[in-house]
Amino acid sequence: MIALDAAVVTAYAPAADGPRRGRARRAAEDVVRILGPVTLDLTEHRIAVVGPNGSGKSTLARLLNGLTLPSSGTVRVDGLDTARDGAAVRRRVGFLFTDPDAQVVMPTPVEDVALSLRRAGVPAAGRDAAARAWLDRVGLADRADLPVRALSGGQRQLLALTAVLATEPDVLVCDEPTTLLDLRWRAVVDALLADLPQQVVQVTHDLDAAAHADRVLVVDDGQVVHDGPPAAALAAYRARMLPPTPAAPAGPA
Ligand SMILES: Nc1ncnc2c1ncn2[C@@H]1O[C@H](COP(=O)(O)OP(=O)(O)OP(=O)(O)O)[C@@H](O)[C@H]1O
Ligand SMILES: [Mg+2]
Repeated sequence: MIALDAAVVTAYAPAADGPRRGRARRAAEDVVRILGPVTLDLTEHRIAVVGPNGSGKSTLARLLNGLTLPSSGTVRVDGLDTARDGAAVRRRVGFLFTDPDAQVVMPTPVEDVALSLRRAGVPAAGRDAAARAWLDRVGLADRADLPVRALSGGQRQLLALTAVLATEPDVLVCDEPTTLLDLRWRAVVDALLADLPQQVVQVTHDLDAAAHADRVLVVDDGQVVHDGPPAAALAAYRARMLPPTPAAPAGPA
């Protein structure tokens, strides 16, 4: 289980028109809180995180596997502290980025998945066959040896997801995994995520996808402002974001 206890993230963000300072003279007033304090126990199988641009969703997602560390408070995965046990945490919690090009590093799909398998400790002798079996599961077997750049954006996202799954994480955290995809590829990736046995925490602007979660966290201005079942959470989110429609003028009696 992932548990956040009063987790706060701050960043150094000097005002553009403020005095320039050296690293050693960074002023406290230039440190801004971008998230928190957040206290959460994440136990549900499918958790969606929604909120406006710049609200802190990615910061929250990155806290969950130690990509970002809390400035104060703690984040624990099965009792492991992300600040102290980062490597063990990242073996348990996989992370999928919005842009597959941020994640796929090898020249071909089979090599990229094989790299994940190497990181997961799979012996060299079995890696190529295992990588091909993973690609087969997601329908990319016939793309295994093509240059990655020859894959479509949807296929690249599927490859990035496969490479994460090949490490067999207990939890998958996805930061807007379908934002760059067209409707068809969005449906493919959504279906794959829906079928995973793992717990999935997904940041999304796709409120239809969020409606299928067991729990929805609404983030706004660095705080979790609503937390609960999707219908109530998404209604609360819409009410925060959309101005109330003006009352219709009264018709003739
Ligand atoms: N290293 C940093 N230094 C200063 N400010 C930062 C830093 N990282 C993030 N921020 C700010 O923190 C806020 C939250 O950023 P975050 O990326 O978590 O938002 P988000 O909800 O994921 O937005 P989006 O929907 O656009 O992806 C933003 O205002 C961002 O500019
Ligand atoms: Mg983001």
